[in-house]
Amino acid sequence: MKSAVAISALSMLAGAEAAETVLGAYIFHRHGDRTPKALAPTNLTSLGYEQVYTSGSYYRSRYLSGDSKIRGINEDTVKLSQLAITSPVDNVLQNSAMGFLQGLYPPVQTVQTLANGQSVQAPMDGYQLIPVNTVSTGAGSEDSSWLQDASSCQNAKSSSNAYFDSKDYTDLSSSTKDFYSSIVPSINHVISDDQVNFKNAYVVYDILNVASIHNSSIPNSKVLTNSTFTQLRSLANAHEWGLAYNASDNMRAVAGMQLAGEVLKYMNDIISSNGTKKFAAQFGAYATFLSFFGLADLEKASTNFTGVVDYASSMVFELFTDADASSGFPGADDLQVRFLFHNGTASNTSEPAVYPLFGGSADAVSWNDFQTNLDKFAIKTTEQWCTKCGNSTGTCAAYAPKDNGANTQQKSSSNGISPAIGGVIGAFVTLAVVLGLLAAFMLVGGFRLVSKKALKNGAAGGSSVEPKA
Ligand SMILES: *[C@@H]1O[C@H](CO)[C@@H](O)[C@H](O)[C@H]1NC(C)=O
Ligand SMILES: *[C@@H]1O[C@H](CO)[C@@H](O)[C@H](O)[C@H]1NC(C)=O
Ligand SMILES: *[C@@H]1O[C@H](CO)[C@@H](O)[C@H](O)[C@H]1NC(C)=O
Ligand SMILES: *[C@@H]1O[C@H](CO)[C@@H](O)[C@H](O)[C@H]1NC(C)=O
Ligand SMILES: *[C@@H]1O[C@H](CO)[C@@H](O)[C@H](O)[C@H]1NC(C)=O
Ligand SMILES: *[C@@H]1O[C@H](CO)[C@@H](O)[C@H](O)[C@H]1NC(C)=O
Ligand SMILES: *[C@@H]1O[C@H](CO)[C@@H](O)[C@H](O)[C@H]1NC(C)=O
Ligand SMILES: *[C@@H]1O[C@H](CO)[C@@H](O)[C@H](O)[C@H]1NC(C)=O
Ligand SMILES: *[C@@H]1O[C@H](CO)[C@@H](O)[C@H](O)[C@H]1NC(C)=O
Repeated sequence: MKSAVAISALSMLAGAEAAETVLGAYIFHRHGDRTPKALAPTNLTSLGYEQVYTSGSYYRSRYLSGDSKIRGINEDTVKLSQLAITSPVDNVLQNSAMGFLQGLYPPVQTVQTLANGQSVQAPMDGYQLIPVNTVSTGAGSEDSSWLQDASSCQNAKSSSNAYFDSKDYTDLSSSTKDFYSSIVPSINHVISDDQVNFKNAYVVYDILNVASIHNSSIPNSKVLTNSTFTQLRSLANAHEWGLAYNASDNMRAVAGMQLAGEVLKYMNDIISSNGTKKFAAQFGAYATFLSFFGLADLEKASTNFTGVVDYASSMVFELFTDADASSGFPGADDLQVRFLFHNGTASNTSEPAVYPLFGGSADAVSWNDFQTNLDKFAIKTTEQWCTKCGNSTGTCAAYAPKDNGANTQQKSSSNGISPAIGGVIGAFVTLAVVLGLLAAFMLVGGFRLVSKKALKNGAAGGSSVEPKA
């Protein structure tokens, strides 16, 4: 702030911009408002659509134009190679991704002249078509009430299940019996009366939260005061945090580990493509936020990070440099990463804020530190996933321990993705592509994934592909 004149004179001399340059961003985004999980299949509501659209418009004004514009990104007409939009196979999440994209790249009317001189206009005022690719984790997450239903990771399931044996859980479970009994009439048999207890804390909160937004006639609503709601939410928060993260047994945070691997992979792609790739957005469930918050020590920045994030919340990893970036892509030592989060729909009037990662206090970390810290828990390859999850069949058979496990012991772990393991990542990507084809098959063939929810005891259940009549 000393002298803006001096700085701009200096930058004119150097022929460079003194300001920082944003080189890329990775957003992890929750879906918008939806119908309750207890009444699967869940659907995105009009309100939810509006929320993700607003968020998309906000990120448009942040990253496609304005001061934080990602260098070289197309502002109006999308260039698909610059983007990577992903979501699990889940109606609410995929529709949220599409609503977001409509805000990010609104229609641009184009008129094409054909060889025969005829003119054609794109339908829907030039609605821009942007594919939403599938990620292999989290399928059906909005239709399932037990967060590990969206993961087939064996060790994560056992780890989350261990929460039900913890003292935290049993204490809260017994001390809240009367509280939950008083709520039963308002649940109005959406779930059975004996399921209205702390074991189903999130589902109970979800039913009443949805009703409070959409239904003006909730039975026995006089018990649902603001303080009752606050209590329902903090119990749901305690329950979901317990399932999503535990510092001394972090395997239950597998969703956060996979997200970390995906963020690192995309950031490495930005760097190795000299900034040709620019912007990624992944849609996913609140549990992934919680698991990631735990792993990245965000609890130290604020205890707010132990609570379930609101609909349409977003967290962003921003790759930028303060160095002179006018002559090519900066070297890795000049890159930094900033973490931003917004609870609920981001907009011009309510923007994301910066929080320090890894229990530190700085507003940004160097790319090298970011990579080292994420690498401590990131799952980047199928092999890592299989080993950590304790799976050894199917895709994982190739990595099952042989010779008393001697050959699976500690291959030297290096920072970043080395070319040597690129093939394994290729295999991972192939899995995602196969799932993508499955999604297309279901879409075209009129098939759908139906999740059998396991409300009762939480732990059981899975999903199966069934033909739609
Ligand atoms: C969601 O939409 C489907 C039809 O697409 C409908 O059958 C279902 O009842 C809806 N779910 C809720 C909770 O409204
Ligand atoms: C991992 O193991 C569990 C339990 O054996 C199984 O249900 C799940 O399908 C396996 N996942 C994969 C990807 O092999
Ligand atoms: C966290 O894990 C430790 C060790 O497994 C266990 O003693 C503790 O009860 C767990 N806490 C919760 C809340 O699950
Ligand atoms: C609102 O609540 C009433 C009473 O529980 C119920 O009959 C009705 O179906 C609910 N409406 C919606 C839109 O959920
Ligand atoms: C409950 O919360 C709503 C919205 O936050 C507020 O308008 C209302 O005044 C509160 N009621 C009480 C009794 O505090
Ligand atoms: C990136 O830039 C470097 C140096 O300018 C060059 O050697 C490399 O081939 C470029 N890579 C790509 C993928 O364009
Ligand atoms: C935590 O949440 C409260 C209420 O939503 C908010 O006022 C406060 O600023 C948040 N704290 C941080 C550090 O974001
Ligand atoms: C988001 O807001 C909810 C209340 O609506 C709160 O419980 C939660 O802790 C907040 N999360 C963060 C990360 O600020
Ligand atoms: C947000 O602000 C930017 C510039 O500050 C403006 O271009 C954009 O239209 C605004 N978006 C909305 C939705 O108001």
